[in-house]
Amino acid sequence: MLRNVCACIGFVILVLVFIILVRTATFSVRSDSVRSCRLTDSDFIRATDEIIGRFQSALRFKTISTNLHQYDRAELQKMVDFVRSAFPVIHSSTLVTHDVVNNYSLLYKVQGSNSALRPYMLCAHLDVVPVNRDAWEEDPFGANIKDGFIYARGTIDVKQIVMGVMEATEFLLKSGHVPKRTFYIAFGHDEEVTGLDGAAKISELLYSRGVRDLEFLIDEGTTIVNKLFPGVNIPIAVVGTSEKGSLSLELSVNGVPGHSSMPEGETTIATLARAITRLEENPHPNMFGTGPEKDLFTHLASDLSLPFRAVVTNLWLFGPVVSRLFSRIPSLNAIVRTVTSVTMVNGGVKVNVLPPSATAMVNHRIHPAQTVKEVMEYDRKLINDERVKIRVVSSMEPHPMSPYGDEDFGYQTIKNSIRQIWGNATVVPGVMIGNTDTVHYIRFTKNIYRFSPTFMFPEDLKRFHGNNERISVQNYEQVINFYYHLLVNADDGTLPPFHKHNDEL
Ligand SMILES: *[C@@H]1O[C@H](CO)[C@@H](O)[C@H](O)[C@H]1NC(C)=O
Ligand SMILES: *[C@@H]1O[C@H](CO)[C@@H](O)[C@H](O)[C@H]1NC(C)=O
Repeated sequence: MLRNVCACIGFVILVLVFIILVRTATFSVRSDSVRSCRLTDSDFIRATDEIIGRFQSALRFKTISTNLHQYDRAELQKMVDFVRSAFPVIHSSTLVTHDVVNNYSLLYKVQGSNSALRPYMLCAHLDVVPVNRDAWEEDPFGANIKDGFIYARGTIDVKQIVMGVMEATEFLLKSGHVPKRTFYIAFGHDEEVTGLDGAAKISELLYSRGVRDLEFLIDEGTTIVNKLFPGVNIPIAVVGTSEKGSLSLELSVNGVPGHSSMPEGETTIATLARAITRLEENPHPNMFGTGPEKDLFTHLASDLSLPFRAVVTNLWLFGPVVSRLFSRIPSLNAIVRTVTSVTMVNGGVKVNVLPPSATAMVNHRIHPAQTVKEVMEYDRKLINDERVKIRVVSSMEPHPMSPYGDEDFGYQTIKNSIRQIWGNATVVPGVMIGNTDTVHYIRFTKNIYRFSPTFMFPEDLKRFHGNNERISVQNYEQVINFYYHLLVNADDGTLPPFHKHNDEL
């Protein structure tokens, strides 16, 4: 009997090992052999003094957004005037139509010759977040170059995209290329404060002109990161295929004021504290495996050493262990579940008076596989106390997941363009934790990708919206060439898109 059990267990283990080995050895994702971009290519766009000078000019406009509908209109006006004067070919081409939307946002349509090809759209924004001048080592609007880096607010968020896209388009049109596929360029002016005056208005205009079905859309997003995980020393380009949602709640408890010398039961503050503790102690469920975060790891497989590769290609088995591990690392925890932060509390009026009311604010960032409603229900069940009133202050559903399969044109075109510029980068799908203007464009396509062609190390992340924001001159040159390759690759109707350089221009 015992022998039979042992034999049976042995057999099961053998089968498991076999499956693991087969999956490890056979797992693959599309990886076209693309020709890398070379400095010696006759259509390589060099970051000349003229090109760097234009970028510096754009960085010097203090196009700061501070609050909803509050942004520096005079500086935005200067920025818009500058962009319109700095790219004469775009602004005089018969292929291009151009709109200034709601005074400060820019929309371009570059007409393609083949109407059977669905148009695509490139997006970015002209505004930047405020600066804490004293904490910077360089003038945040000086755009000074030091040790090969340009320092300024907006160098990575995201005037490099605005100017990179314009330089690439100017170069393309100047070379006499007539695009086959129509494309749009959209720059909002208040992304940092919701995009309601910029991207939302561009979206309305496009919709009113009958634009419906875009092939794909690319906006700012996740970046190329070096040394993202221990043991992975290749650059990893993360393309955001979804965005987390958000939900802000107000919890409030009301009571009867009275003297603190005669308390009756617990105070409103104590009731609220209990609710807060329940939220803090019971995180939302780990959703590992239901969003693109799983494929972030499986798509890395070919670059990992054997034991790691066996794990990521067999998440059907190792998933639970891996997801538990991720829960302990804040940056990974943020992508595997809906996170909860209690951010404000308020209550009490005087040291000897029972508090008449107590309130707390709770901020959730919602995993792409959950909904606002589910998160609310979860909180309600957790708190399980009728004295605690829950009010929704603001909410946004997570964005739909964009496809990133082997045959998805937008994703593969972006992926191949990245690989042509950053030869060794592995491209993987991922979740964007912050939010972008794409919320205003969801009706135009399900193929929305969020990617900023910025090369960074993990310690650079704090420069986003932080101090000493910078980009290297070399990286800026890559940004321009990335968009140029993307324009050429997307112009082709079929996969694999393959920039053949001069022979097709
Ligand atoms: C655009 O300019 C007009 C005229 O100056 C002004 O009335 C309007 O408020 C401006 N719109 C925005 C969004 O600033
Ligand atoms: C890619 O790897 C090769 C060989 O390891 C190296 O020579 C090359 O410099 C790398 N390219 C980039 C862009 O890092």
